[in-house]
Amino acid sequence: MQNFTYCNPTKLIFGRDAHKAIGSEIASFAGGGKVLIVYGGGSAVRTGTLAAVAQSCRDAGLTVLEKGGVEPNPKVELVREVIEIARREAVDVLLAVGGGSVIDTAKAAAMGYFYDGDVWDFFCGRAQPKKALPVCCVLTIPAAGSEQSIRTVITNGNVKNGAGNACVRPKVSAVNPELFFTLPENQIAAGVIDMMSHIMERYFTNTPDVDYTSAQAESALRVIMRNGLKLIDNHKDYAAWCEIGLAGSFAHNGYFGLGHEEDWACHGIEHALSGWDTRITHGAGLAVVTPSWMRYVHHTNPARFMRFAVEVMQVTPIEGDEEATIELAIAKFCAFLQRMHLPVRLGELVDRVVPVEEIAAAATARGPLGNFQKLTARDVQAILESAR
Ligand code: NZQ
Ligand code: ZN
Repeated sequence: MQNFTYCNPTKLIFGRDAHKAIGSEIASFAGGGKVLIVYGGGSAVRTGTLAAVAQSCRDAGLTVLEKGGVEPNPKVELVREVIEIARREAVDVLLAVGGGSVIDTAKAAAMGYFYDGDVWDFFCGRAQPKKALPVCCVLTIPAAGSEQSIRTVITNGNVKNGAGNACVRPKVSAVNPELFFTLPENQIAAGVIDMMSHIMERYFTNTPDVDYTSAQAESALRVIMRNGLKLIDNHKDYAAWCEIGLAGSFAHNGYFGLGHEEDWACHGIEHALSGWDTRITHGAGLAVVTPSWMRYVHHTNPARFMRFAVEVMQVTPIEGDEEATIELAIAKFCAFLQRMHLPVRLGELVDRVVPVEEIAAAATARGPLGNFQKLTARDVQAILESAR
């Protein structure tokens, strides 16, 4: 296990009506201040969540402004607009009501607020944020884990990049599993594989002696799969949503990577895909990339994959044949994705031919991907070819 320091100060309010407590939480540190609520393409309006959240803020004595229109795979242009409004109105807090796209827009704007240059500088390594406006969240889809993470992922043209800094870790996040009842099936499934991937990007490591976090990751992955399947059968299963909501928030708050060298190759490849075509849902892209990545890299550390096979996919080892056992586990993982009605091939992901060479070049533009096995553009191309 490697040395580490862990500090996760996000206050998490969880359960029925959690979103109605957000106003008093914000007032406790920004009493009498101005809140700019950022939201997406309309689901928060239709479900009444936006109105309830705004009311909770007004009841707590806060002044409320609103800015909607964040699209999935959020664009830098809207981030700039949010910065402009926040400066003009001298807001004190950004409150994201939505999923990863909305939260990431708020986080990026929170960084950009205090920066004289263009906010994209943070996403291409030209600048590091020094401080940010406080960001709070009301989560409406469990998936990206942005409600507790230090990351924000933004798209500029067809380049999708992430930036991370502790100053944008949300101050307070409200997670009410009832707000997930209105999610369509494809977003439920995409969220499930995204949170699994956040755990697996940390689980697939060559760092020795990380048994504690590995065992926790294995049981978390089993719980996510079990409850994900329940949600495909019943979109309003509150108990299952509680498990998935909790898992999603913890999958990406850094806990599962404590003391590990982490990987992040699947995310790097997926971001190149959904940057190339922003109609691609992040989780759906991961469902296509992950099994192909597994088949390509498992020889690097078969012991780790044997553990995945037995402890996560619950495969009985085939005596004397590790390779066959691992292949069986990957096939079982694929079967799970298909039961979640997720795509597992590029042809099922998007209705045009994927230019794999271009995507591989974009994915590795900032150097080789991953740590479990370092991947060059040629490796990424091979992984994508095998996912056709
Ligand atoms: O825009 P609206 O109308 O609100 O609809 C959204 C959107 O179409 C809809 N939705 C959300 N809550 C709903 C709902 N529909 C009905 N009922 C509800 N309660 O769901 C759609 C997807 O929303 P989005 O925010 O894009 O989903 P998600 O949370 O999966 O976020 C994906 C983004 O997060 C990034 C991804 O790359 C992608 O850009 N990620 C961010 C990370 C981070 N900041 O730490 C880490 C992740 O690995 C990921 O890269
Ligand atoms: Zn993700």
